[in-house]
Amino acid sequence: MILGIETSCDETSAAVLSGSGDETKLESLVILSQDVHRVFGGVVPELASRAHLTSIVPVAERALADASVTLRDIDAIAVTAGPGLVGALLVGVSFGKALAHGTGAALVGVHHMEGHLFATSLEHADAVPPFTALLVSGGHTLLIDVERWGAYKMLGATRDDAAGEAFDKVAKLLGLPYPGGRHIERLAGEATADEARAFRFTKPMLRGDQQLGDADYFDVSFSGLKTAVLHAVRGSNDLQRDARGIARGFQDAIIGTLVEKTARAARAFGRNRVVLGGGVACNRALAGAMRERLTPEGATVFAPTPRLATDNAAMIARAGLFHFERGVRDSLALNAYASMPIPGMQP
Ligand code: KG4
Ligand code: ZN
Repeated sequence: MILGIETSCDETSAAVLSGSGDETKLESLVILSQDVHRVFGGVVPELASRAHLTSIVPVAERALADASVTLRDIDAIAVTAGPGLVGALLVGVSFGKALAHGTGAALVGVHHMEGHLFATSLEHADAVPPFTALLVSGGHTLLIDVERWGAYKMLGATRDDAAGEAFDKVAKLLGLPYPGGRHIERLAGEATADEARAFRFTKPMLRGDQQLGDADYFDVSFSGLKTAVLHAVRGSNDLQRDARGIARGFQDAIIGTLVEKTARAARAFGRNRVVLGGGVACNRALAGAMRERLTPEGATVFAPTPRLATDNAAMIARAGLFHFERGVRDSLALNAYASMPIPGMQP
């Protein structure tokens, strides 16, 4: 029985997971999203830390109550140790350490992005290695080959903005609320065929002559696309009218690149499973395009529901369980890190 804790950004989350190996049961999951950042159009680190401080205890108590267990039933505490906002992470890490010290439960620090790798397997029993993973969130865009749990190969990453960041910045240009990803998706879905045709953007960092071994074969970059959108916005004399087409053009371009790079990775490693993770994996057009491209190649695409795609403690508990079962234990010297390597990751 493992208690997961996640406080790396702007969600305070706790979850209870039971079981062993890939045979697990999510007993409870509580996610409290901090609304305060909407006012500022982005996450304000100091406010995030304070909000975690006031909510971590009730959120964890609620997760235990929902699972009908008490702290005495908990064998291990899995807590996100990084990467993320240090002040925010410290709240979860300090709380986790205190719980471990007070109850005698084991303490396991978890890498936030490794959590995202595990998230989809909580909902889809077949979303287990070997697979190609595309993790697309507000802070990261990673293309990873997962040979087995704990054995990862980093294939590509973004050279500038993360995919979610690009969605959020374009949303801001279009005057949409923060975080903007889902607003872009909604607006793009409202575009008529003509509006969709009116704004076409080049799929970023994608060329037919890129070859396996080239640095840009798997890497992505979204700052150029963002600039192209900026020009389209500035060039529009009726943004109210053009916003749908621009949103659609942007989304088509970004999805086009992500799908193609993921298909390249699956092909290069002979994987017939593709697992999506991170907040941008909520985007149904992304999952749809991924399936359209990969199903004919014999690959199955697994996308998590929004609850497990965005930041949550269930995925931290699941990744923590993996390390716990391999004997990993952290001491009370566990710290929070703004950046840290994913354990088991090869360059
Ligand atoms: O994984 P996540 O919850 O937090 C981070 O670890 O960053 O991801 C949040 C990101 C935001 O950038 C948000 O705009 C994006 O996920 N997002 C979406 C959608 N829903 C959330 N992006 C595109 N389409 C969506 N439907
Ligand atoms: Zn995340």
